[in-house]
Amino acid sequence: MKKIAVLTSGGDAPGMNAAVRAVVRMALHNGLEVMGVKRGYAGLISGELFKMDRSSVSDIIHRGGTILRTARCEEFRTEEGRKKAANILKAYGVDALVVIGGDGSFTGAKLLSKLGVKTIGLPGTIDNDLAYTDYTIGFDTALNTVVDAINKLRDTSTSHERVSVIEVMGRHCGDLALYAGIAGGAEAIVVPEKEFDRDELCKTILEGKTTGKMHNLVMLAEGVGGAEELAKYIEEVTGLETRATILGHIQRGGSPSVFDVVLSSKMGARAVELLLEGKTSRVVGIKDNQIMDEDIDEALAMERKFDDKLYEIATALSY
Ligand code: F6P
Repeated sequence: MKKIAVLTSGGDAPGMNAAVRAVVRMALHNGLEVMGVKRGYAGLISGELFKMDRSSVSDIIHRGGTILRTARCEEFRTEEGRKKAANILKAYGVDALVVIGGDGSFTGAKLLSKLGVKTIGLPGTIDNDLAYTDYTIGFDTALNTVVDAINKLRDTSTSHERVSVIEVMGRHCGDLALYAGIAGGAEAIVVPEKEFDRDELCKTILEGKTTGKMHNLVMLAEGVGGAEELAKYIEEVTGLETRATILGHIQRGGSPSVFDVVLSSKMGARAVELLLEGKTSRVVGIKDNQIMDEDIDEALAMERKFDDKLYEIATALSY
């Protein structure tokens, strides 16, 4: 193992820069050469590789986004595209690739490893939708951004005695809605993992009104979707003024939280250690507060478990 490369792929996530920094500096610390790949797999296919030194990652630990840029790459989904990528790595004399991204990026890494490229994955996504790890890089920061927005929406909702439907990202995973819902004191949490009855929700809202609630905050996961439509329905059935807010890409920006920076630093360092130990096709995660790693095929095959207990607690605390 002499030379490694690192890329970020898929949706950006706060903490990706700190992870890149950790990979680069840990590799250099151990006498390895490091190359950065721009624009994820798209840049890999088009040969956008450049040498990185310690100063390449100066002053990025606290920055959101990714200095390497990122992309979702259609060509990489084809065998031909992946072969091109593997050949580029060979041409640059790169022995292993560290991929920072979500499940799509991990699938890419898995397929690349079948072509003989050593790969290690770091979970970079605000969605927290990877089953093998308790937390992904960026989830905590996005959560804080969402809760900050909820608290602002609470002010205006209370003033107008309105219902507020707040739609958050997360793809098919309800974690952002669940955790933000509990941290933001939402009256209801609507996620793809749980059955949802619009009329029951309206009943709960009306009950809240009788106990003196000045507002109702409804957290809605994008995996369920339809914020505007739901807001309209609630207004029609309850007679209460209702507004929908779709938080959108604001959730992906901003400086990473301390939790995410520490997590990224630990995971980035572990990725390099794994390569130095001769390991490949592994993904790094955190379980029960311990950094761990898992076989990439097994990690991708695992089914994500929803935190039913937390959902129950959120429900019990909401009225
Ligand atoms: O995976 C991260 C994520 O932000 C999802 O929550 C969301 O569904 C998707 O990416 C949005 O993708 P794009 O930035 O390509 O619109």
